[in-house]
Amino acid sequence: MNESNVTWIRGTKGPTPQLTDPSSSQTIPILVTGGAGFIGSNFVHGWLGPNLSGSRGALVNLDKLTYAGNAGNLIALAGRPDYTFVHGDIGDAALVAHLLEQHRPHALLHFAAESHVDRSIAGPDAFLRTNIEGTFALLQAVRAYLDGADSATRERFRFIHVSTDEVYGSLGPDDAAFHEDTPYAPNSPYAASKAASDHLVRAWTHTFGVPAIITNCSNNYGPYQFPEKLLPLMIANALAGKPLPVYGDGQQIRDWLFVADHCRALEAVLDGGRVGETYNIGGGNQRSNLEVVHAVCGLLDELVPGSPHRPHRALVRFVEDRPGHDRRYAIDASKIERELGWRALESFETGLRKTVEWYLANPAWIADVTSGAYRQWIDQNYGTRGGTTSAALAKAHA
Ligand code: NAD
Ligand code: TYD
Repeated sequence: MNESNVTWIRGTKGPTPQLTDPSSSQTIPILVTGGAGFIGSNFVHGWLGPNLSGSRGALVNLDKLTYAGNAGNLIALAGRPDYTFVHGDIGDAALVAHLLEQHRPHALLHFAAESHVDRSIAGPDAFLRTNIEGTFALLQAVRAYLDGADSATRERFRFIHVSTDEVYGSLGPDDAAFHEDTPYAPNSPYAASKAASDHLVRAWTHTFGVPAIITNCSNNYGPYQFPEKLLPLMIANALAGKPLPVYGDGQQIRDWLFVADHCRALEAVLDGGRVGETYNIGGGNQRSNLEVVHAVCGLLDELVPGSPHRPHRALVRFVEDRPGHDRRYAIDASKIERELGWRALESFETGLRKTVEWYLANPAWIADVTSGAYRQWIDQNYGTRGGTTSAALAKAHA
């Protein structure tokens, strides 16, 4: 472990800070990786609640703060005694071992990943490093931690591996939705790296007894999503009057789930999921990309009546398709519904409205995350697709 690249925002080197009742099991923390990203920060907020009385217990967040990680997502938690942030890499085996020994968590929820398909096509290296080698490092550290732990700790501990439906590949229009036994057929470097990590988790459970559970979830949307992904990109571009780049014919289908529903599903899996099992999580909201973009445009027309860019759907531009683009994903979530009583609470319509309202209420957040390196990515990804480079945008506005 390199001490110099560890930032201790709370708690310095002592044990996890105690909540009001020191004998409460709430004082035994959970360790979260990637908690400054999109889903992770929603999970952290949901777990800790708006104040201590609503907290589910102490939480330690290990995050490398890559371009996708944003410490600002968690600024409201600064100074909370039940929250510790650690700046570091999941691949730093000594750091992870140290954190496990120091905080002695009862669970590890593993969100940290390189997560964007287009970036995995432009440069797969970081995906293999973080998603495969990083998961390997975590599994080895947990294994060593549990080997040295008492039986109560071993009994209680859970490793929740947060994965994606993309490991199952692409469906035809009439194929049945992905279920937990659907054979893996990853098509993108991102999906392949997540599939590899799922296989490692499975093997470490089977061979070494690491008490892990894998979740495979469909496309999430909601607050704090970095605007390189479809929904926030379309919202941010439409608000700025920029072109809305739809890949190919826009008829690719995804199953959309509001992020808070995903976070509640993960809590249900942590509380009642069976070790060694996989749970598929999805919203039952299959929509084509074009339908999604049109829905965003319709909401913006309604919620921003004074916008000079209405009707926003006039900004749609069909651009060159993503290589190897999966045509359709759909999730059969009946196992988690049946076994753990989980249900998505938001429909696509209610979740999308909340999402658009959140972005409208947080222009400073968008401005902050879309500065600097973000612009380079937009030029790199869209430059050769014929739609939204800085130059093309300037032309569109001329
Ligand atoms: P994200 O890209 O928004 O966030 C990833 C977080 O991980 C960031 O905070 C980043 O700083 C951190 N991170 C990256 N590399 C790290 C490393 N080496 N060490 C420590 N931290 C590191 O991703 P997301 O959309 O929040 O996805 C979270 C998890 O959920 C991922 O594992 C992803 O595969 C999975 N998932 C995402 C979706 C989706 O629609 N976004 C759907 C299903 C599953
Ligand atoms: P994305 O948000 O990147 O998620 P994923 O690839 O993990 O499903 O993309 C969602 C869908 O939207 C996917 O089919 C690709 C498409 N898409 C566009 O049409 N244009 C864009 O600019 C982006 C980022 C995505």
